[in-house]
Amino acid sequence: MNSFNEVYKEACENPEEYWAEIAEQVYWYKKWDKVIDDSDAPFYRWFVGAQTNVCFNAVDVHVEQGRGEQLAIIHDSAITGSIRKLTYLELQDQVSRFAGVLSSHGVTKGDRVIVYMPMVPEAAIAMLACARIGAIHSVVFGGFAANELAVRIDDCQPKLIVAASCGLEPGRIVEYKPLLDRAIETADYKPDACIMLQRPQCKASMTQRDFDWEEAMRVTSPVDCVPVLATDPLYILYTSGTTGQPKGVVRDTGGGIVSLKWTMKNIYNSDPGDVYWAASDVGWVVGHSYIVYAPLFNGNTTLLFEGKPVGTPDPGVFWRVISEHNVKVLFTAPTAFRAIKKEDPEGEYLNKYDISCLDSLFLAGERTDPDTLNWAKEKLGVPVVDHWWQTETGWAICSNCLGIEQLPIKDGSPTRPVPGWQLATLDEGGNEIESGEIGSLVAKLPLPPGTFPSLWNARERHFESYLKNFPGYYETGDAGFIDEDGYVFVMSRTDDVINVAGHRLSTGAIEEVLASHPNVAECAVMGVNDDLKGELPLGCIVLNSGVSRDENEIVSECIQLVRDKIGPVAAFKLAVVVKRLPKTRSGKILRGTMKKIADNTEWKMPATIDDPVILDEITESLQSMGYPKG
Ligand code: COA
Ligand code: AMP
Repeated sequence: MNSFNEVYKEACENPEEYWAEIAEQVYWYKKWDKVIDDSDAPFYRWFVGAQTNVCFNAVDVHVEQGRGEQLAIIHDSAITGSIRKLTYLELQDQVSRFAGVLSSHGVTKGDRVIVYMPMVPEAAIAMLACARIGAIHSVVFGGFAANELAVRIDDCQPKLIVAASCGLEPGRIVEYKPLLDRAIETADYKPDACIMLQRPQCKASMTQRDFDWEEAMRVTSPVDCVPVLATDPLYILYTSGTTGQPKGVVRDTGGGIVSLKWTMKNIYNSDPGDVYWAASDVGWVVGHSYIVYAPLFNGNTTLLFEGKPVGTPDPGVFWRVISEHNVKVLFTAPTAFRAIKKEDPEGEYLNKYDISCLDSLFLAGERTDPDTLNWAKEKLGVPVVDHWWQTETGWAICSNCLGIEQLPIKDGSPTRPVPGWQLATLDEGGNEIESGEIGSLVAKLPLPPGTFPSLWNARERHFESYLKNFPGYYETGDAGFIDEDGYVFVMSRTDDVINVAGHRLSTGAIEEVLASHPNVAECAVMGVNDDLKGELPLGCIVLNSGVSRDENEIVSECIQLVRDKIGPVAAFKLAVVVKRLPKTRSGKILRGTMKKIADNTEWKMPATIDDPVILDEITESLQSMGYPKG
C-alpha cells in the first residue's frame, strides 16, 4: 500500500495521469479527448469529450455485475417507525420507470427538474431518474419557505417539479403542497406539471397541473440510460451566498462520478457491499454526494434516515440504526453529536446496542469542537474524523484519508489536504503567509474533478466570488491556518455566511428580509455562539423614527417574517431592538464587535426587549476601544 505522502505527491505532480487512471474504473460510452481542458482558464473542465451516464454507474452497472440482489437503499424512518429496503434490481426498476414518467411529460436531456421531497427513497429515485435521461435536477430542502422555492424556480426554470405531500418533523407534519402552490404562484416562471408523491400522513389536494406518483408509475414503461457528455451538468444545488439570491452550484457528470467513487475507498475506507450512512438530508450537498451518489457508484448499501438524532424516539436512535443495519461508516454534522451528548452525556443509551460493526465516524458541516470530538471518540471507540468541505467542492478538501493511511488526529483540524487539493493561506494582498498564521484559505487551480465548474447562469458571479481576488486560486471563503505538519485549521468564514446546525445560511439574506418589515429602518444579523447548533443568527433591529408600536410585537413579527420568507431552517429566534448600530466612520456596521459582545450574552429564546439591550454594551465597548475616533 502506498503511503499518504506518496499518493498525495503523485496526485499533485501528475493530476492528469492520476485522475485518468482512476477514471478507468468508471463506465464510459466514450472515453475523453482531454483529461483537463484549460482553454478557458481560470474555468477548467474535466474529461472533455467523454460520454457516460450517472445512473448507469450508480445502478445498472451493479445489476450487470451481479449485485442485483444486494440492498441498494435502506430507508429507516424513525419518525414513522417504518423500514423499507430496495435491492439494486428493485432500484433499477423504480428508477427506469420513473424516468419513463419524466419522459412522458416531455422532459429530455438538459431540462431542469426540481425535486422538493423529504427523506424518502422516492427522492433518490427522482434524482437518479433525471440523471438517467440527462435531465438536470435541483433538489430543494424541505425546511425552506415558499419564497425560497420560488427563487429557485425562477432561476433554474424547471419543466417539472417532483414533490411529496409532506415532510415529518417531530410533532409536526410539514405540508409541502400549500408551500409548492404558493411558490409557483409567486414565481414568474411556471413549470408544466408537478408529480406528487402522496404520503399516508397527509394527502395533497390535486389541481389540473398535478399528477399522482403512483398512478403515473403504474402506466409507464421503463426507459434506458442516455449517454451524456462528462461535462454536462448532473445537478444544480443552491447554496447561500452573500446576498439573498442563492448561488446555483453546478456539478459535472464525469468528474462527479470519478471523484465520488474514489472517495468511498480512499477517504471513508468503504468497500462495495458495506452499509454507509450519511445522516443528513438529500437537500444538502452531503445528501447528494453521500446519501445518493457516492455509495451507489461504489456498490454500497446507502442508508436513508428520516428522523432526528434525539427525540425520535430517544437519544439512542443512532445506535439502534447502526446496530440494526450493520452500519460501517457514519457521516453526520457535529451538531447531531452535540444533541446526543446533551441528552445522554454518559452514553447510557449506547450500552443498549451492539455497535461493533461501526469502523469510523466522519463529521463535517462546521468545525468539530474538541469536546464533541473527544466525547464521540471515547464513547464509540472508533476513529472520529473531522473533514472540511463545501457545497461548491462536492467532496472533502481536507480529511484524514482512512483508506490510504490513517494519520494522527489533531484536535480542531480536519487533517491535511486530500490528494488532488493544494492549499495555501494568503494575506489580503495575495501573498502566501507563514505557517501558523491565519489568512484566507485558497486552493490552487485547477481544482480536482467533481468540484463545481460553474454557477448556473452566473459566470461573472462565479468569477467575482471565487476566482477574482487571488488569481490562480479558488477562494474558499474560509479563513484559517496551516501548521508546520501541513495540518489545516479552518477557523471562520471571510464572508457573511454562518453555519446553523450544519446548515449554511447567509446573514445578508436574513437582513434583506428584516429590512422589508415596514417599521425597520436598518438591521444587522450576525451568528452568535450556541452550544447545540454551533451558531444562531441574532438580529439587531433599528426602528424607523416615530414608530410607537410595542417593540416586542415588532420583534415577533420580524421573527415570523424570516420563518415565512426563508423558512424554519433559518432558526431565527433571537432579535432585539437597538437604538442604533455601531458603525465605522465610513458607515460600515461593526458586526464583528457586536458579535463579540453578543457571544458573551445569555440569550432567551425568543429574544425580546427584556433581554439585555446590547446597544449600551456595544457603545461601552466601542468607547473602550477608542471609538468614536477623531
Ligand atoms: N422540513 C421542514 N422543517 C424542517 C426541516 C425539514 N426538512 N428540517 C428542519 N426543519 C425545521 C425544524 O423542525 C425546526 O423547526 P422549529 O423552529 O419549528 O423547531 C427548524 O427547522 C430548525 O431546524 P434545526 O436547526 O435542524 O433544529 P432542530 O431542533 O429541528 O434539530 C439537530 C437540531 C441538531 C437535531 C438537527 O439540526 C440535526 O440533526 N442536524 C445534524 C444533521 C444535519 O442535518 N446536518 C446538515 C448537513 S451535514
Ligand atoms: P456547506 O456548503 O453547507 O457544506 O458549508 C460549507 C462551509 O461549512 C465551509 O465553507 C465551512 O465554513 C463550513 N465547514 C464545513 N465543514 C467544516 C469543517 N470540517 N471544519 C470547519 N468548517 C467547516
